[in-house]
Amino acid sequence: MSKDFKRYLITSALPYANGPVHIGHLAGVYIPSDIYTRYLRLRGRDVISVCGSDEHGVPITIKAKKEGITPQQVVDRYHAIIKDSFEKLGISFDIYSRTSSPVHAETASAFFRKLYDEGKFVEQTTEQFYDEEAKSFLADRYIVGTCPKCGAEGAYGDQCEVCGSTLSPDELVNPRSTLSGATPVKRETKHWYLPLDKYEQMLREWILEGHKEWKSNVYGQCKSWLDGGLMPRAVSRDLDWGIPVPVEGAEGKVLYVWFDAPIGYISATKELTPDWEKYWKSEDTKLVHFIGKDNIVFHCIVFPSMLKAHGEYILPENVPSNEFLNLEGNKISTSKNWAVWLHEYLVDFPGKEDVLRYALCATAPETKDNDFTWKDYQARNNNELVAVLGNFVNRALVLTKKYYDGEVPACGELTDYDRDTIAELSSIKASLESNIENYRFREALKDAMNFARIGNKYLADSEPWKLVKTDAERVKTILNIALQITANIAVAIEPFMPFSAAKILNMLACEKFGWERLGAMDLLAAGHHIGEPSLLFEKIEDDVIQKQLDRLEEIAKQNKAAEVKAEPQKAECSFDDFQKMDIRVSTILEAEKLPKTKKLLKLTIDTGIDKRTIVSGIAEHFSPEELVGKQVLVLVNLAPRDFKGITSQGMILMAEDATGALRLLQPNEKTNNGAMVG
Ligand code: 2FM
Ligand code: ZN
Repeated sequence: MSKDFKRYLITSALPYANGPVHIGHLAGVYIPSDIYTRYLRLRGRDVISVCGSDEHGVPITIKAKKEGITPQQVVDRYHAIIKDSFEKLGISFDIYSRTSSPVHAETASAFFRKLYDEGKFVEQTTEQFYDEEAKSFLADRYIVGTCPKCGAEGAYGDQCEVCGSTLSPDELVNPRSTLSGATPVKRETKHWYLPLDKYEQMLREWILEGHKEWKSNVYGQCKSWLDGGLMPRAVSRDLDWGIPVPVEGAEGKVLYVWFDAPIGYISATKELTPDWEKYWKSEDTKLVHFIGKDNIVFHCIVFPSMLKAHGEYILPENVPSNEFLNLEGNKISTSKNWAVWLHEYLVDFPGKEDVLRYALCATAPETKDNDFTWKDYQARNNNELVAVLGNFVNRALVLTKKYYDGEVPACGELTDYDRDTIAELSSIKASLESNIENYRFREALKDAMNFARIGNKYLADSEPWKLVKTDAERVKTILNIALQITANIAVAIEPFMPFSAAKILNMLACEKFGWERLGAMDLLAAGHHIGEPSLLFEKIEDDVIQKQLDRLEEIAKQNKAAEVKAEPQKAECSFDDFQKMDIRVSTILEAEKLPKTKKLLKLTIDTGIDKRTIVSGIAEHFSPEELVGKQVLVLVNLAPRDFKGITSQGMILMAEDATGALRLLQPNEKTNNGAMVG
């Protein structure tokens, strides 16, 4: 039986402030959490939604080092971008805070200190890698070396990005510190561990027995962690960026980012309201964590163990977690720039915030990984938002303007068809509510859109534009119903598309209706004057989509080129060997394709010494016309070779680039033929 809660506390995973937010984050976490929160607000519930930037952790220090700036500068930059872009997309957090705030430092320190004082940690000394030159312990990411699995250079202490293997720094061949280049040594260091094994029983009962209703991906991951047995986890790190461990003898140590980040939910609530304890410490609060699937263990196992160890806090009632969203068939990757970045989208598609919210909710990876494609985005806009929702609302409003000068006509006697339509509409509410409350936002969106689909069909079937000539009274009823449906749409779509909902209300010249009015057919009184109709959505043309696809294609090309590794160096050659090669600047005088061959070109070359023939296998890369007149480098003393009965006297030097394209090697300025290379 589901419990009645007095209030709701909604948290959304704190995004790392080492890069902007992309569509994967939005579809996975922030759009679902915003829909849920807006819905509860509309229902008049006591709800707060908290989030903020996760500003600690090693990747931020690495980014700072790479750019020659401080970690604080890195997080300041991305915190501002993320906060601003969330606001512009209408993600309606009650607070968007950050973990570098003083309130957070104080809250996280006090949390640690309480657990420490009560003996909830175990202290353990272990050997960690240390850089003696930089005088610093090294996080796994600060150690690079040769991958033991694939031999790639530059593999990190925790992962090889070439073959994808998970590694430990001990496995790297020839490990080096990225701070100084020194070979790391092992040195003893003390850390504090949260003995998760002590909370295993509690977690089993709470999740495996008590929350069988959780989404199967979340429940399944928890079960496999618990069945595998839990081990103590270090909650401190040797690092100079983070919240200092607040105990004596912990110089140079900070709280592990995954210890401090979830406490960020508590500090954000504290910053938001002096009443924060009622949200965190009362069993009457429904706490819901919205996260991506890579965060499940931290929110279902580690953070709840921390909360239990602390003793004053409630545990989450649910942890809805989505799978991953891919982009055009490939995994979204920040480092490969394979993403649609929110702040860029907002610039490229001004006024289309709701289109993105709609497309991402409709393709959200709720039960399995899903793919975002620009073509699908375009189709959803053109075929659903423009053709169904926008078209219906526009027709209802424009016809009201035209026939009644914008005054809502009275509803006359209903036909059976009217009654059926109204009954169909009023049945949507229960399904919409149940879908949202059970975190099935895709289905819920379909329900909300059903108001528009039914309305569209109602107008198309009733054809008031034809009837107006023969039965003006009937048209009044039809348009009254169409306008009531329009007002209903403004309620139903608000959680999903708040900008469009506001626009509809504005066009209807109405204030917001409460959720309880959804399904009612008397939202607008007869005689009420509506405002000016305008288009809710615009068609998105092919060229706009093509521009986005071209951008991705360019990124894919760059990534491919970056992936290609140079061939290993050939065996050593002596200076004398090199001296034997006679390379001259030459000009191509003539070029023609060799008949009956695909690859061969016959070239006449002026080497400065003579004019000669060279046969070259480059016909698939160059047309004869583009070669004539070009200066190139030619190995002139290569032993002659026959091709298809033609003797080739030399070789044109080329480089093959990472994409397989051939490039001519040329002097950087015009040079006399015969000039020697060496
Ligand atoms: O995975 C991430 O992006 C983390 N920054 C999420 C942190 S959630 C919370 F615990 F703060
Ligand atoms: Zn590898």
